[in-house]
Amino acid sequence: MVKKFKFGRVLETEAVTGKPEWMEMSAKQVPYFQLEENQELVFHYQMDKETMIYGLGEQIRGIDKRGWLYESNCSDDPQHQEGKHSLYGAHNFFMISGKDTFGVFLDTPERVTFDFGYSDKNEITVKAPEDLDFYLIEAESMEKIVTEFREMIGQSYIAPKWALGYGQSRWSYFNADEVREVVKEHRENHIPLDSVYLDIDYMERYKDFTVDGKTFPEFEKFTEEMRKQKIHLVPIIDAGVKIEEGYEVYEEGVRNGYFCKDQEGKDFVAGVWPGRVHFPDMLCPQVRDWFGKKYKFLTDMGIEGFWNDMNEPAIFYSEEGLKEAIQFVNEVSKENIGLQEFFELKEKINGLANNPKDYSSFYHQYQGETVVHDKVHNLYGYYMTRAAAEALEQMEPDKRFLLFSRSSYIGMHRYGGIWTGDNMSWWSHLLLNIKMMPSLNMCGFLYTGADTGGFSGDTTEDLLLRWLEFSIFTPLLRNHAALATRNQEAYRFTDQKTFAKIIGMRYVLLPYIYSEYVKAALENKMYFRPLSFVYGEDRRAKKIEDQLLVGESLMIAPVYEQNAQGRYVYLPERMMMVKYKSREEYTTELLEKGDHYIEIALEEFAIFIRKNHLLVLSTGAECVEELEENKLAVLGYVESSAEYVLYQDDGFSKDYWKKDHYITITAEKETDGSFTVKQNRSLEIVKTECLS
Ligand code: GLC
Repeated sequence: MVKKFKFGRVLETEAVTGKPEWMEMSAKQVPYFQLEENQELVFHYQMDKETMIYGLGEQIRGIDKRGWLYESNCSDDPQHQEGKHSLYGAHNFFMISGKDTFGVFLDTPERVTFDFGYSDKNEITVKAPEDLDFYLIEAESMEKIVTEFREMIGQSYIAPKWALGYGQSRWSYFNADEVREVVKEHRENHIPLDSVYLDIDYMERYKDFTVDGKTFPEFEKFTEEMRKQKIHLVPIIDAGVKIEEGYEVYEEGVRNGYFCKDQEGKDFVAGVWPGRVHFPDMLCPQVRDWFGKKYKFLTDMGIEGFWNDMNEPAIFYSEEGLKEAIQFVNEVSKENIGLQEFFELKEKINGLANNPKDYSSFYHQYQGETVVHDKVHNLYGYYMTRAAAEALEQMEPDKRFLLFSRSSYIGMHRYGGIWTGDNMSWWSHLLLNIKMMPSLNMCGFLYTGADTGGFSGDTTEDLLLRWLEFSIFTPLLRNHAALATRNQEAYRFTDQKTFAKIIGMRYVLLPYIYSEYVKAALENKMYFRPLSFVYGEDRRAKKIEDQLLVGESLMIAPVYEQNAQGRYVYLPERMMMVKYKSREEYTTELLEKGDHYIEIALEEFAIFIRKNHLLVLSTGAECVEELEENKLAVLGYVESSAEYVLYQDDGFSKDYWKKDHYITITAEKETDGSFTVKQNRSLEIVKTECLS
């Protein structure tokens, strides 16, 4: 049951599309909350000791969000640590599990703060602007609330199957030969690979929808050459359009008034990677249509996927801010700089980037009104990605493109995925990645993953390996590293064979991963679930945040500490552990409910098959196209009988609902202790291995 409470006149976000049966209620009575109304809306809720809080999507800290102050304010912050309050996305959905069970979605493009027991450890205080659509979702479990919410916000984006293969990225591969080298090294070392990402340097002076003819000559031919090697090139598109005379996108934008305006009505100028840029007014449908169609420049040359970046939008400096800072420097430089001036100077320079003052000094045309940016800040990345998605859909309605964004708001999950933005080559960011995934799924973001290995800072061989041992389960699996960091491609390290095997396991597990991912999108379910959603009655399981359920059949327990040779794993019930080094090198064992110290060497990872559940495995491949999907092995823990519904399709069409995409595989334990595995379609089951 969904109840909608309307406060004031909120700017439409189009986050909610579904037609659930909700009741529009008088705004004065919001169940569970005490409401204060003055300049803003303040919602108070008293927690009991047991209350847990889930949700908020892309945020720092744990799965249980209790005990910190969060803010929805899309922010560019690579070095985020636990003291931060917001990251790249703004996902205003949370759920309460305790004396009450309900979910809340605060639909507003403005900033919301979530004081979840920060000021008072027993109280939730949510502050929102006075214009707000407040949705209350009541159902008997967290999973049911998620499904109701997701029905309300519409079906999640589904990526093409090749985009679930392994992607290699770097800022930057500076020319076509560097890309060729990356591909060659992967192929020669038998490290699977499906895509190579092109960061900003493929462009001519960082101009969107251009290709540098010197470093990437004959780009169309190059794309084709890569496709012959079964590699997809995935170029980046940045939000800011470079100010440069003669540059068509810039000139068209100026001519048609497509850019955000400053206070005086001139095109707002910000500094980002290309230098001085204008921001297309992505909130305006006409501008979206124009910007989206520009992607055709690249699709015409064979490109089938994009990542949209810097779309919070990130601002390194504004023209005004820079002027002020320079003026300040000139003033203080006339005197002897004392400590006070020094700190002021430092603050002025550091404060140039992503300065709140800048966000309140440019304007959009939104639904017939002129709106200052900070009122709609959280929508910018969402609408940029929507621009691309809608144009791609128009160009090729029946084909799936890869599309993901850095910044997002709920609603964007229908148009593309997200990566979790810039992170660091830190073990703590691997753990953050693990904890963030279920929260993102709650908010509809299923095609997601982090910069594996870490973006900024230097990675180490063991960090990359351990990270991969987790990331092979995330739908978006991409190794990405920043400029001036250590080379981070898998083949750069000592033990290339292990990398080949671990990444290879992604392809072995892919039939299951893809099936669970697509079903989660189609059925508005979660792909990654916290243990508490399934084993909530178990007080131990309820609090575990470093083990996750992946789809229906699996639990994972990644290793996220340097030099660890294993870890404690808690089993909420008897499970079948499978420790994999590669498809051929693995061990299986049934483990009882309870605590176990499991040795997990650097070269291996452990998965746990749930009771009466099955796992399907391919024979492996070095790219998605080469997977033989009708030859599968079945692994299961079958006490009596188990059934698995496998989803399979061609990987690029959008005919998801066809009946013949679903194959039912069953395993029965016979009286003599043997197992009979059956399936209702023409699959070749090459091997069965069940324990009971
Ligand atoms: C931003 C992106 C990062 C990219 C870099 C250069 O920091 O988040 O992924 O590599 O810009 O384009």
